Amino acid sequence: MDVAGQTDDEQTALWNGLAGRAWVEAQELLDQALKPFEDLLVEAVSTGSGGRVLDVGCGTGSTTLAVARLLGAKGRCIGIDISDPMIAAARARAEQETTPASFICANAQIHAFEPASFDMIISRFGVMFFDDFVGAFANLRRAAQDGARLRFVAWRSAAENPFMTTAERAAAPLLPNIPARRPDAPGQFAFANGDKVRRILDASGWKDIEVRPIDVPSNVAEKDLLTYATKLGPVGQALRDADEPTRARTAEALRVAFAPYIENGAARYTAACWLVSARG
Ligand SMILES: C[S@@+](CC[C@H](N)C(=O)[O-])C[C@H]1O[C@@H](n2cnc3c(N)ncnc32)[C@H](O)[C@@H]1O
Repeated sequence: MDVAGQTDDEQTALWNGLAGRAWVEAQELLDQALKPFEDLLVEAVSTGSGGRVLDVGCGTGSTTLAVARLLGAKGRCIGIDISDPMIAAARARAEQETTPASFICANAQIHAFEPASFDMIISRFGVMFFDDFVGAFANLRRAAQDGARLRFVAWRSAAENPFMTTAERAAAPLLPNIPARRPDAPGQFAFANGDKVRRILDASGWKDIEVRPIDVPSNVAEKDLLTYATKLGPVGQALRDADEPTRARTAEALRVAFAPYIENGAARYTAACWLVSARG
């Protein structure tokens, strides 16, 4: 669950502030919830050749580390992210588990990557936040060598992912300051339109583009659900300055709204996403 569409400066501020800190705090539960997507990307790396992999918008580093573990001495995986706190968490994890992944804290849209220095570029929900999508993917294309593979996952529409907006719909009557979603602006659902994704990749020099819908059974453990619903996304933003009674009423509204999803100790839902592939 991410933040609503905002401009690049706002995105930078958000991922270095509230959203970044919330993702660091909720790292374990988010990694558990997003594990099926990590597995998809790791599998894609395992079937390729060439061991120089870039993970864009790598956040706290779970996918980067999983790929680095897979590659071992045969390659290297570098994660790039605009968020200081998330990169700090990623580096600490790499050090703790002595996995030789490395991390860059920078804006992937404009970072001066060494040209043609990657065989594969991956991302788990980290490429929907640029303010110039064509410019960003053209920059990534320059970083990729000819024939390199691009593989990322992105959300389809909010309408196809009702679980993702359950919290904000339930909390809206109590929190009038919830930031509105702006369709098409940078943010979680910026790539809802698959044709738009295809046009962006085509215009930025990628070839053999495939934008495939995937429906992935996912879950958030019931014990983590309130943290998930109150710390992240638009509700997390709106609750920042809320008083205790408002927090308590919101928590109750969220408990009721998520109840239909609960089964065997977890909230279960289908994540409606795109699995996007292309070649440099
Ligand atoms: C939804 S999170 C996904 C994080 C990570 N890939 C994961 O699956 O745990 C999106 C990430 O994209 C990063 N991001 C946003 N804009 C970026 C940019 N212009 N350059 C690099 N990273 C960016 C955010 O800081 C955030 O970590």
